[in-house]
Amino acid sequence: MKAFIVERYGKKEKLQLTEIAEPVVRNTDVLVQIHAAGVNLLDSKLRNGEFKMILPYKTPFTLGHDVSGVITKVGSNVSKFKVGDEVYARAADHQIGTFAEFISINENDVAMKPNNLSMEEAASIPLVGLTAWQALVEKANLKKEQKVFIQAGSGGVGTVAIQLAKHLDATVATTTSSANIGLVKSLGADIIIDYKKEDFETILKDYDVVLNSQDTKTLEKSLRILKPNGKVISISGPPDPDFGKEINANWFLKIALKFLSAGIRKKAKRLGLNYSFLFMRAQGEQLSQITKLIESGVIKPVMDKVFPLEQTNEAMAYVETGRAKGKVVVKVI
Ligand SMILES: NC(=O)c1ccc[n+]([C@@H]2O[C@H](COP(=O)([O-])OP(=O)(O)OC[C@H]3O[C@@H](n4cnc5c(N)ncnc54)[C@H](OP(=O)(O)O)[C@@H]3O)[C@@H](O)[C@H]2O)c1
Repeated sequence: MKAFIVERYGKKEKLQLTEIAEPVVRNTDVLVQIHAAGVNLLDSKLRNGEFKMILPYKTPFTLGHDVSGVITKVGSNVSKFKVGDEVYARAADHQIGTFAEFISINENDVAMKPNNLSMEEAASIPLVGLTAWQALVEKANLKKEQKVFIQAGSGGVGTVAIQLAKHLDATVATTTSSANIGLVKSLGADIIIDYKKEDFETILKDYDVVLNSQDTKTLEKSLRILKPNGKVISISGPPDPDFGKEINANWFLKIALKFLSAGIRKKAKRLGLNYSFLFMRAQGEQLSQITKLIESGVIKPVMDKVFPLEQTNEAMAYVETGRAKGKVVVKVI
């Protein structure tokens, strides 16, 4: 089958389109014929080698985390899916490879594709949808009438997180540039801050939750808009010791993670706040909940561009500009 592989780590390295063997289908796996693959910044960061400590993939490996497609084979112990099912997923770490024609995925990581979405739209959802879910529902336990600040409302994560937070009846503040104000408003954002003209720290006060996806300076400023006992959940780092436990890190990595997040954890503690890092994970049950929200019209995908499979490198370069409005997807068939 055709696959885009990382041959060598590096920022300037391009993925190579090559022929590789079809994946082996384990007992609990489903084989998915890939129709579309969502592109995420995580793909670029992995190729650059930025995640080698946490996710030490050995080259060559096939890149790509998000997938939509049709099941063509099921392992002997698969109970939830059958051949012909239209599904989508965020492939689990160490089992990635959606920039290809087929992928074998554990059935627990898969969900039925929302029936009101095209394959391209469905492939745009899993990684960012699960990130929003795990940040706002699982970690923050966001409640009715609470106030949440979601940075970068026009990005992949932001567009889904705003819609999910509004579904939970929270008040949503977000940042974006002037060109995307209409977009975040249409998604339901209540307070919109043009980050190029205004400083959110001078506008937002007494927030319950911050979903941080930007740099260290933004993270530190975010602490100052929270009320006591408020929660800051960062998806852009720094990783904390709990994350080390989650991934069963070795002692060296555990110490490194403790050290990396010591400053922000100390500042948060001084203000009576709770800092946590989220590295989202594959999760079929949660994705099924997201399917329901999509089918009932609560969450709508926001698509920027669709590229053909042959232009996977161009699709990644587009995402790397940091200007995407919603999601970028590669169409395989
Ligand atoms: N830890 C995890 O599990 C996890 C999961 C998903 C993503 N992430 C990380 O979270 C970050 C965001 O991911 P994403 O997929 O949402 O990114 P994205 O879709 O590439 O974000 C692009 C958007 O960000 C906006 N933006 C850029 N700079 C901004 C700023 N200073 N303030 C407000 N908005 C700004 C841009 O809007 P304008 O054009 O208007 O500036 C653009 O619409 C990335 O670093 C990604 O790697 C982590």
